[in-house]
Amino acid sequence: MSDSAQPTGFVSLVSAGPGDPELLTLKAARRLAEAEVVLFDDLASGPVLQQVGPGAELIAVGKRAGRPSAKQEHVNALLVSHAQAGRRVVRLKSGDAGIFGRLEEELLALTEAGIPFEIVPGVTSASAAAAAAGIPLTRRLTARRVQFVTGADVTGELPEDINWAAIADPAVTTVVFMGQRSFPKLAQGLRAHGLPGSTPALFAESVGHPDQRLLRTTVDELAQMMEGAQVVQPGLILYGPLAFGTGTAGKG
Ligand SMILES: C[S@@+](CC[C@H](N)C(=O)[O-])C[C@H]1O[C@@H](n2cnc3c(N)ncnc32)[C@H](O)[C@@H]1O
Repeated sequence: MSDSAQPTGFVSLVSAGPGDPELLTLKAARRLAEAEVVLFDDLASGPVLQQVGPGAELIAVGKRAGRPSAKQEHVNALLVSHAQAGRRVVRLKSGDAGIFGRLEEELLALTEAGIPFEIVPGVTSASAAAAAAGIPLTRRLTARRVQFVTGADVTGELPEDINWAAIADPAVTTVVFMGQRSFPKLAQGLRAHGLPGSTPALFAESVGHPDQRLLRTTVDELAQMMEGAQVVQPGLILYGPLAFGTGTAGKG
């Protein structure tokens, strides 16, 4: 490198976990402490940001349903320009960075710009929700598969190309991300494809935050509850042969 060339920085794409700072990995906490710039999502704000060292620049680039948010191209451009200025950049993403988090777009932008990066995996809200409710995501005989699906496409509506046979499979634990608004329609489709409305369901809101709420119910009851409901907090819906009654975590 010539003396006048800027040293290339480095980008760590860091998983913030569901919100509880104790669910950050040690590596995530270290990257936050050493960062010079942190670009964070709305869902990756709050107490986890206390791990950021003094003097680091904090940039909110939140994308939250129904609220104004930074465009993906803008986030990509910020990542690239801060790294090209030779800085240690952390891109903090909620839950596990590789699950419904537009990670691929950011990796492509970094690769195209020739910027070195790493991905720091973490605790997805799906496993945090199951843990908070005291249930496993898989069960030895009754739920040999677990699937993570999205309840919203880019327009916020239920995706049109849903694999109904897969998501109405009664022998699977299904976790629906971003699915509160569309759940009544999803539940209708599930019933039409043979999944009983009495199938156990868990609604897990604000997992890992002080206002965490867990509701053990059924697919039908939850669909009724979600009809016309305002979505304010992040929430997950789990349904399938859930092991309610196994543990006592999160009761009350
Ligand atoms: C853009 S996705 C990101 C998912 C994230 N990468 C993960 O692994 O949890 C955002 C959705 O994840 C779910 N979510 C994220 N954090 C949550 C939390 N703390 N409690 C409940 N749901 C959460 C909600 O369904 C929310 O709409």
